[in-house]
Amino acid sequence: MVCGVIGMNETLKTIYNLRSVHGDFSSKEVTPDDLNAILNACIRAANASARQSYSIIVVEDRSVIKEFLGYDGDKALIFCVDYNRIVNTARHLNHSYQVEGMIAFITGSVDATLAAQTAAIAAKSLGIDSLFTNSIHRGDMRRIYKQFELPQKHCFPLIALILGYSATEPKHLKGRLKKGVIHYNRYHSLTDEELENIVQEYDDPQKHLGSIDNWKERGFTHYLEWFYSVWSKRGANVLPERLDQFYEILKRADFLETLGK
Ligand SMILES: Cc1cc2nc3c(=O)[nH]c(=O)nc-3n(C[C@H](O)[C@H](O)[C@H](O)COP(=O)(O)O)c2cc1C
Repeated sequence: MVCGVIGMNETLKTIYNLRSVHGDFSSKEVTPDDLNAILNACIRAANASARQSYSIIVVEDRSVIKEFLGYDGDKALIFCVDYNRIVNTARHLNHSYQVEGMIAFITGSVDATLAAQTAAIAAKSLGIDSLFTNSIHRGDMRRIYKQFELPQKHCFPLIALILGYSATEPKHLKGRLKKGVIHYNRYHSLTDEELENIVQEYDDPQKHLGSIDNWKERGFTHYLEWFYSVWSKRGANVLPERLDQFYEILKRADFLETLGK
């Protein structure tokens, strides 16, 4: 439990106890009833124009999850920005539906992300842990389209949520930065002193803000030195290819359309 605030309700308790399980899931299965409850809950998320511009691929095969999402887990949900159902229903009615390029992509991404986070909260409320992963965007993304038979147009796999029961209890929850994240009434650019406070916050062993705890043993003076010099630089050699692939796939999906202007 993160904090013992008096009057904290069950929903807040669930949210405050959210955490990622980085593939260390046990063999315990998520029951069909629980999976169904998670799906029914996640589609309750708000969605632009009440059109649900997303699709969810439910992955039920552990070996497929491991091979294509890169982690062990019992079930997985791949949330895709998707306008095909909307376009095809329009065509069915002899109407047309304009997918508005980047605007559609951003709006669909918001719809899909809200559904995904709602799924994570619903799962946690049932005692089921989860891991968000964008591993679907690593390597050759076309293999994700092929395996899950995603339409090439108007569809983009945005984020995967792996579900299961944690094999081990983590010693602590990850902390969160507040200063510089939440801005009251207007944006506040941080001063040098405030930036230094952030460096110190990341270094504070009680806060568990960063993604590793042993940066000192690795020879760094600050956690953020490790973050900027090691973590953020990984994959730099394949970045041009990755960027090209993102553009190619988003272009093929018509999400970069400029409507001829
Ligand atoms: C878009 C996104 C992608 C992520 N991808 C991965 C991933 O590929 N592998 C992983 O172990 N964790 C991944 N995570 C989980 C984050 O590492 C985790 O949320 C963060 O470290 C905070 O930890 P917590 O969720 O336990 O509080 C991802 C989270 C998000 C939102």
